[in-house]
Order: sequence, then C-alpha cells, then structure tokens
Amino acid sequence: MTKPDNHILVIFGASGDLTYRKLVPALFDLFVQKSLPENSAILGVSRTKLSDAAFREKMKMGILKFSNLGKDHEDKIDAFLPQVFYQPLNTFEADDYIHLKERLGKIDAECGTEGNYLYYLSTPPSLYKIIPENLAQHKLNRQASNTGWKRIIIEKPFGYDLKTGKALNKDLLKFFKEDQLYRIDHYLGKETVQNLLVTRFANGIFEPLWNRNYIHHVEITTSESIGVEGRGGYYEGSGALRDMVQNHLLQVTALVAMEPPTTIEAASIRNERIKVLQSLRPLTKHDLEHNVIRGQYTAAKVRGKQVIGYREEEGVDPDSRTETYVAMKFHIDNWRWGGVPFYIRTGKFLPTRVSEVVIHFKPTPQSLFVDNKDFCNDGNILVIRIQPDEGMLLKFGVKIPGAGFQVKNVNMNFHYSDLQETYVPSAYERLLLDAMNGDATLYARGDAVETAWNFVQPIIDYWENDPEAKLHGYPAGSWGPDVADQLIEQKEITWRYPCKNLAEDGIYCEL
Ligand code: BG6
Repeated sequence: MTKPDNHILVIFGASGDLTYRKLVPALFDLFVQKSLPENSAILGVSRTKLSDAAFREKMKMGILKFSNLGKDHEDKIDAFLPQVFYQPLNTFEADDYIHLKERLGKIDAECGTEGNYLYYLSTPPSLYKIIPENLAQHKLNRQASNTGWKRIIIEKPFGYDLKTGKALNKDLLKFFKEDQLYRIDHYLGKETVQNLLVTRFANGIFEPLWNRNYIHHVEITTSESIGVEGRGGYYEGSGALRDMVQNHLLQVTALVAMEPPTTIEAASIRNERIKVLQSLRPLTKHDLEHNVIRGQYTAAKVRGKQVIGYREEEGVDPDSRTETYVAMKFHIDNWRWGGVPFYIRTGKFLPTRVSEVVIHFKPTPQSLFVDNKDFCNDGNILVIRIQPDEGMLLKFGVKIPGAGFQVKNVNMNFHYSDLQETYVPSAYERLLLDAMNGDATLYARGDAVETAWNFVQPIIDYWENDPEAKLHGYPAGSWGPDVADQLIEQKEITWRYPCKNLAEDGIYCEL
C-alpha cells in the first residue's frame, strides 16, 4: 500500500459521537499500523469551546474504548495525540473561517502537511451546504500543485428524498468538483462487502453460476439487536428506509448484482454499480401495497429485560408512523437477473445483530432422492457473512454413509478469523485511508445516490400520503412483522432465520 500524501484531516462536528466512537479511533488504528503519512494532523472543529488539551483527553477516552488496537497499544496513544488539534468554529460565522484558515496555515507550517486538506462533514445535514460554501468563500476548496489538494467527505444522510438529494448534489458541485467529493457509505468499507468483488471476480467457479440460470433468489439481511438507543430525535425524521435501505442495502445489492468491471479503478466499478441501480424495476402500486413491508417495534421482553416500544422512545412522536423495520421484494431488469427476485430486510430490535447476503441456488432439475426427509432440495446456498464472524458458507448435500441414498446438508464454512495474522480493519479505517489516497472506489457517486433515491421515492410518497399504507407492529426482539414471511411466497422457502441457522452453522449468535 502506498502511503497517503502529507495532509490535515479537518473534522467538522468534532464534538459529536461519530468522531469520538469511530473516526479518531480508526485514525489511531491507522497510526499504529503506520498507514498514516510521515506528516499528518487532525483538526477537530465544532462549536463547543475546547482547548487542544481537552479535546485530546476526550479523544484518548474514545480510543481506549472504541479503537481496535487501543488496548494493546496504549503506549502509542501519547505519540499519536500531539498531531490532534482543535479549533472552535460557529459554522454560520464568516470570521470563524478566517481563523480556521489561519490555523490550517499554522499547522501546515508546524507539521509539514503541505496544504493538503481532507474535510470531513460529520455534522447535522442542515450544515452540508453552509460549510462547503464558506470553505469556498475563503478559497479553502482550491487545489493546485502549489497549494495542495482539497477533498471533502460527506456523511449520510445524503438528502432526505430525491428532491433534496438532487439539491444537495447541485449545491456541493457549486463549491467542489465531483472528484473532490466523497459521499461515505460505511457499508462499502466493510471488508466482507468488498470481498464480494473478490469472491465474484477472482474465482472462476462462482461467476458462471451467478445469474438467472442458476440462482433462484437472493436475500440480503441487516438486522440489529438494539433499538434507536437515544437517537430517537434523528431516527424519527429518518426511519429504516432512509437510514439503511436507500444507502447501505442498495449499495450491497449493487455489488452482488453488478457486471464485472473492466478494471478495478473507481470509475469502472462505480459505472457497473450504478447500472444495477438504474435497472431496478420501478415499484408499482401493487408492489407498494404488497411487496414492501413497514414495521415498528413495540414494547416487549428482550433477553429477559423489558424494553420500551419505539413510540415511547425519547424524541419520538407517540403516534409516530416511522418505520424501524423494512422488508421488500424487488427485481433487477437486466439480462443477468431477469426473473430473479431480490429480498432485503433490515430492522432495529431484531433477535440478533447480523448482516448477510444469501445466494439461493436453483434446485436440481429432477429430485432423485425424494424420500429424504432431512434434505430439502433448495439446500444449495452461499452465505456471505458481512458481520459478525465475517466469512462465507456454502451448503450442499452429501450422502450419509451406509445403505441407500440418505442425503444430508453439510457446510463448507470459512471464517476470516481462521486466517493467520488477519487483522480485519474497521470500515472507517479503510474509507479514511482511501480518501487520503484519493481513491473514491468505495464512495458513492452523486448519480448513484440520486438513482437510489429515485427507486425509494415512491415508497416514501406512498407511506406519507396514503392513509391505507400499513404499518405493522412487531414485538421488540422478534424477527419483525409476520406478514414479511409472505413476501417469500414459495412453498418451503422462507427467509433464512439467522439465529436458528447460525446456531446450526456454529456461528456466534447473540441470543
Ligand atoms: C448507520 C445507521 O448508518 O448504520 C444506524 O444510521 C445503524 O442506524 C448503523 O445502526 C448500522 O451499522 P453497522 O455497521 O453497525 O451495521
């Protein structure tokens, strides 16, 4: 891996949770692995008045608590912290940007960071226009060989719907060029999500089967075992569709379904990903009524502990119709996937935390071993486990030794943890490093974000405007509304129930 150029990472929203829990811990992990350049600095920026020392102290806590390597490398924290600085700034105060510019110049001079700035907007989305605008006004967006490069990472949510997503793209493009913009989707930074590309395109055995001729259906699940955890205020205006489906789940779908790229360059891969999103079959009224399920968790006992329902959460309307669960069925209208249904689901307060892609292969054309009770002929599945216990599992039937032809389903199971010396970096480590290196492959391009909004917009409209649109309650700790089972309508085919299946597969399950 080449080291990134010397630079300053400027984090707006530095007093927030993301900086404390994810960004600075990930930067420390990169530091421990010697992935950061010789000269680099981190400048935290937010409204709170803090000294460098106070900010460093807080970040130290975050590193100890949340970084992968902090506990084993506590001795390195003191070597890391001197490159961390803090600058208070009121985003609406033009003068504050003058101070910011001066501070950046000073850090450049002290640390040798050469005028290369990577901005990170970890702020409420309402500030996504004003900050870039002010940076541009103070020429902090300009890049040239003698002034260094300027890049900007934007956290999700990238817009609230199609209209606002488009408007945001338009606004940002007034101040930064597309190749300076890095729209983050942390799912794309997960190792196992990237491994989808390697599984598909580095192995001759999978790709010939990866199409409508051999695949019966595809299932993608991202379940969480916790509720909104104090984020009710944010979540109430978002819901699972905007929070998880429009971005993470559709981006994973694009990686599962895309054509082979011509190279592994960002442009090639992103071109193929967007073609998948463009091929999503527009949802009809019938789909909205029957193939998209919206759920909301209700009070229940979870792992022996009583938990409150979503409507009782702080910051949530007691009559809220915001969904904490979405399951849906859709199609990708292209030659590879014609006729293959895709099923995706995500939810808060489901029985366990698991993300997996499940490829269900078609059964053999004839069932020779029909008498067999244990082996169901839909048994060939490939599970790509995104988290936890990252790995891959292939299920197939074998003969039980002895008389006759008793068939049993067995597993070929690969766990990343079995690899010697494997360190699985966090998504933020990978994505921050890529942005420092100017590699946007794992970031979402503006057109892809808009295309994804375009696909989910009819759902937003239907749920918002049609009083008939159903919202199903489900007890916290269950697998969501029962009605979701009806999406996968064929006999003997159900969602893969990770807890049951995980236990059978010998994989960690929270229950
Ligand atoms: C975030 C959502 O993007 O992803 C959260 O805003 C969600 O609501 C989180 O909990 C899930 O991410 P992960 O990496 O824990 O699966």
